[in-house]
Order: sequence, then structure tokens, then C-alpha cells
Amino acid sequence: MKQHIGFIGGGQMAEALIKGILASGLYSKSNILVSEPNDYRREHLESTYLIKTFQNNHAIFEKSKVVILAVKPQTMKAVLENCRSVIEPHHILITVAAGLPISFYIKTIGKKETKIIRVMPNTPALVLEGASALSKNDNVSDKELRLAEEIFLAVGEVVILDEVHLDAVTGLSGSGPAYVFSFVEALVDAGVKMGLTRVISEKLAMQTVAGSVKLLRESGEHPAALRGKVTSPGDTAITALHVLEKVGFHGIIMDIVESAVLRSKELGKME
Ligand SMILES: NC(=O)c1ccc[n+]([C@@H]2O[C@H](COP(=O)([O-])OP(=O)(O)OC[C@H]3O[C@@H](n4cnc5c(N)ncnc54)[C@H](OP(=O)(O)O)[C@@H]3O)[C@@H](O)[C@H]2O)c1
Repeated sequence: MKQHIGFIGGGQMAEALIKGILASGLYSKSNILVSEPNDYRREHLESTYLIKTFQNNHAIFEKSKVVILAVKPQTMKAVLENCRSVIEPHHILITVAAGLPISFYIKTIGKKETKIIRVMPNTPALVLEGASALSKNDNVSDKELRLAEEIFLAVGEVVILDEVHLDAVTGLSGSGPAYVFSFVEALVDAGVKMGLTRVISEKLAMQTVAGSVKLLRESGEHPAALRGKVTSPGDTAITALHVLEKVGFHGIIMDIVESAVLRSKELGKME
């Protein structure tokens, strides 16, 4: 029989992963366990996914080999301190908490042999279109890492990196949805300013972004090549791109990612 997979915390990220894992067939509903203090969330998860839930975190470690830590970063220390006595060398701890380094878990649990996989997912994982970066400590075998990779492949794309690169990931894909949402919002407002209704403008803006990304993916062409194909001499797109380049669009995007990376490093040092 397949081992159980357990979740500590049954919030948004845990639910996205449960949805993806069930859809991919990686684990069956009888193999998924969740501990969650909120009655409403427990009832929701049980009735929607027919999985078993608990109020007590210890039950998860007692019954599961793979345990996904899906609580808020500010709750993590208390959870680990409470579970320290039931965390054993065979457990594979997978954490999705933003900002907390692997060293934080080892220090808080106080057992240096603990297997830790740290993941930086992003919010599109909630609709199974996430981008996740995984890194592990030396206690995790390649086979165990592959298992974690399969779990996150169920909610989108995965890359495997050394932990030192997770700040860069946080600045790019972790925070990236915020940049994309801002871009779409601005595009919608621009349409409204030019006389379109908000409903029409939203429909056109979202499909333009989604369709452009699909074209990039499916054509395999460089973004600059595709941009070249939508501009012709003296046309509207090249006129607009001139404005975009005058305000330093490329530089602004590179600056915002860099600022998020620096902030991620600062937050990591506070732990
Ligand atoms: N949402 C995302 O898109 C996203 C993206 C990247 C990373 N993450 C990371 O994923 C983690 C979870 O985020 P989330 O958005 O899923 O948050 P969330 O919806 O608030 O889920 C956390 C859940 O943990 C429960 N909880 C609180 N204390 C607990 C305890 N002692 N033991 C067990 N469960 C407990 C909370 O219950 P109460 O509500 O009753 O407190 C809540 O249901 C965070 O560390 C976050 O950094 C999330």
C-alpha cells in the first residue's frame, strides 16, 4: 500500500496541492491526511475531497512519511516546537513557507539528520499552473527529491536548484504574479480610458496576456522575435513600443525583480 502523505495546515496552498495530487493520481484520497485547527476548513476538505482530517498535528507525523508543512511562516516555529518529539529520521519534511531557510528548520527541530525540502511555489498553483523551485538538504536522497518533484509537478512547472538561488526565485516567480496582475490591471484601465467598457477591456487584456504566453511557449521563438512580428514600419505597435522603451521598461522590470530579491535576502536574515 502506498504511504500516506500528510499536511500540517489545510489552507489555500495545501488545498491546491491536494487538488493537484488527486487529479494526477499520485496519491488516492485514502492516503491524504490533513491537520488543521479550523473546523470550517476541516469540514470543507473532508466533504470536497473525501480525505481524512485531524485537529492534532502529531497524528500526521505518526501516520505519514511525507509531511508537507503548509502553515504561515509566522506559525512555523510553534508548529515545529510542538512536533519536535514526533519528527523522526524517516520523515521527509516539505515546506512551502516563504522566506524560512532550511537551517531554521534544523535549528528549531534540533535534529540535524532531519530531511528537509524547501519549496518556493507561487499563487497560480491554486489553479494548477504554478511555478515551483525545490531545494533540499544533504539528508534527502535523489529518489526522495523526485517524489517531491512529482508532487509539485501536479500543480505546475518545477525547477530544482541549490537553496542559495531561492531568493532569486522569490523575486522572479514567487513575487512575479503581482507584477503580471499589475500589468493586466494597467492594460484594463488603459482600455477603459480609451472608451471600452471594463468588462470588454478585461476580457481582451486577459486573453492578450494568456494568448501571448501560449504563443511564446508553442512557437519556441525568442520574445524579441515575436515582438518583431507584431511591428511593421510606422505602425501602432512600434509607436507604442517607442514609448515603452523611452520609460526604460526593461530596466524597470529588472529593477523590480532585483528589489524583491534583496528584500527576500533581508527577510531571510531576520530569522
Ligand atoms: N497561497 C499561496 O499562493 C502561497 C504561495 C507561496 C507560498 N505559500 C506559503 O504556503 C504557506 C501556507 O499559505 P496559505 O496561503 O495556504 O495560508 P492559509 O490559507 O492561511 O493556510 C494556513 C492554514 O494553516 C492553519 N494553521 C494555523 N495554525 C496551525 C497549526 N498550529 N497547525 C496546523 N495548521 C495550522 C490555518 O488555520 P487558521 O486559518 O485557523 O489559522 C490555515 O488554515 C505559507 O507558509 C505561505 O508562505 C503560499
